[in-house]
Amino acid sequence: MNREQAKKRIAELRSEIERHNFLYYTLDAPEISDAEYDRLYRELTELEREFPELVTPDSPTQKVGGPIARELAAVRHEFPMYSLDNAFSLGELREFDARVHRFLKLDAAEPLEYHVEPKLDGLAVSLKYEDGVFALGATRGDGMEGEDVTANLRTVKPLPLRLTQDVSLTVRGEVFFTERDFALVNEQRKEAGEPLFSNARNAAAGSLRQLDTTVTASRPLRIYLYTLEEPERHGVKTQAGAMERLRELHLPTAPLSALCRGVEMVVSYLESDFAAAREELAFATDGAVVKLNEFALWEKLGFTAKSPRFAIAYKYASAEAVTELEGVTFQLSRTGTLTPVAELKPVEIGGVTVKRATLHNLDEIERLGVAIGDRVRVIRAGEVIPKVEGVAERGENRREILTELPTHCEYCGSRLTRRDDPPNLACPNRECPEVIAQQVAFFAARGAMRIEGLGEKIARRLVQEGLLKDVADIYTLREHEQELVALEGLAEISVQNLFAEIEASKRRPFARVLFALGIPQVGAQTARMLTEHFAGIDEMIAAKPDDFAQVYGIGEIVAREIHDFLHDERNRARIERLREAGLQFAAGTEAQTGGFFSGKKVCVTGRIEPFTRDEWKEIIEASGGYFVTAVSKSTDLLLAGEEPGSKLAKAEKLGVEVMDANALREALKSDVPPESEELAARWREFVGED
Ligand code: IVH
Repeated sequence: MNREQAKKRIAELRSEIERHNFLYYTLDAPEISDAEYDRLYRELTELEREFPELVTPDSPTQKVGGPIARELAAVRHEFPMYSLDNAFSLGELREFDARVHRFLKLDAAEPLEYHVEPKLDGLAVSLKYEDGVFALGATRGDGMEGEDVTANLRTVKPLPLRLTQDVSLTVRGEVFFTERDFALVNEQRKEAGEPLFSNARNAAAGSLRQLDTTVTASRPLRIYLYTLEEPERHGVKTQAGAMERLRELHLPTAPLSALCRGVEMVVSYLESDFAAAREELAFATDGAVVKLNEFALWEKLGFTAKSPRFAIAYKYASAEAVTELEGVTFQLSRTGTLTPVAELKPVEIGGVTVKRATLHNLDEIERLGVAIGDRVRVIRAGEVIPKVEGVAERGENRREILTELPTHCEYCGSRLTRRDDPPNLACPNRECPEVIAQQVAFFAARGAMRIEGLGEKIARRLVQEGLLKDVADIYTLREHEQELVALEGLAEISVQNLFAEIEASKRRPFARVLFALGIPQVGAQTARMLTEHFAGIDEMIAAKPDDFAQVYGIGEIVAREIHDFLHDERNRARIERLREAGLQFAAGTEAQTGGFFSGKKVCVTGRIEPFTRDEWKEIIEASGGYFVTAVSKSTDLLLAGEEPGSKLAKAEKLGVEVMDANALREALKSDVPPESEELAARWREFVGED
């Protein structure tokens, strides 16, 4: 065979092999036997051996791996990688649908079309193909920046190194193990005397983030893609269309997806077909992801700080209990909204005593049909705040809630009004002391300006005493030193500490200041992205709603909210006063730095409760650090808990910084909590935040 013939045959073989990979891994419908496949593969390897100059990196034979330089390099994501909000019950799923309707100002009866897909439990990755060739793969990392795992991903069998067309695109998906393969991997490790992986998800993460990719290559990892970035560039308008496009390109996508018209159809799909089929799936799934099908709606809805508003992860429910609804109170928030809270006869759910649960809003009360005196079903499943799911048994002398709503604000006496979005009572008084106290406490919270000693209680007190009438008054508190010291329960020393904290808060970066302002719908991450887009507050004030919508993740509706907030007279006066006080209103270099672990290589030894090792890993990574399993010269920090191993001695020998649980607690106080709600709750407890 001459070189030309070989070149032609090699091309044929490669595309044949990729096609059979797709048939085997994605369609689960192989057309040839394993022996026939091996024959094709062998023919290709032999030709490539004979004509080594014809070997290209996109050949299926190149999935064998080798060592990576020293460490996984950091990769900044072109588009941030978000996570998903969870719905822990069908009720919450319906709530999500109602929320979407409200946000889009659609009639509740108008059915929306949803794409329902299995929720994969592995490691999220982002992949780039250039002109049809796999070019770059990265882990999610903290959502903004991940690790370069291109070389590792090249070894993942079902992932094509070349697409069926020469297109350039970014796709996202999940790398995982099937249950059977996970069991096999652990069996092999057991035989080899290696520590076992605690679950399939950790195994996938551990296998992908290897410095020697022959290890990755030896593990039967799978991948399914579920997101096509910039779909408009590829002429697709819906999620279903995007998935079809991916399959055309021979990118693997998950089975068991369905299009449903209206949330009730989603519910029945999840209760019947999906529930039944999920048992049969080769991979473990604890739920489904429900996404609006139309991309035009994705644009309109945008994202919250952490997750898209157009999609939700539905998790099959867990802990539930029945107890009596003793009363309903209303909690006033910093925006003036009163949220109904169920006061329950204490009951234990999943090992925790629950006394209160959220009722969300007035529509929810009506939908649930609950009344005081009823026995109600309460669930707690992963989320921190328990919620009332429905009536278990009607009480004999039940009292309706909606007919006995309060009429006046208990703090300022103002006549309460109604708000639509969501439907709730509201105190319209912008000078209401409780609203101001809540705003102050939010402004001073750890995730915002972090002013220690200015929590809800003290804030309320200072507002009552007339020392704070607005958030900006925090920075003129010094003028009231005598009055502060005279306050009962406030020692001279704590007043001085408070002043020092307030002074220190002036150095917080612009992103935090922006978040602390409490602009509706602008969470910490959105604030950070705004500061990457706008040089300072003046540029933001001069901007039109459209300019905000240019920022990735901000939809038209939030863009309008930001614009309106910045053009409200009172807000502007507050901003000016804060600026005069010396707060940062322009993006400086320090504004972009991440959390405490940012950029650090961190190793863990021993137990540091209440987190497991894997959870520490998640926390370290969420705060921008790198979790490493062994101490070396390049390790920046060793977290040493109870019963530390030999790593401690090694760190001391190498002069690596060591922190114990107490030091860690202090250091983490100013950090942002990890993303998962469940983890965040325990994290707050750990750092001693209330
Ligand atoms: S879409 C913009 N679809 O779940 C949000 N995510 O809990 C993009 N996940 O970080 C996510 N299956 O790693 C999407 N069918 C699916 C998924 C899925 C699993 C993961 C993903 C995400 C996490 C959020």
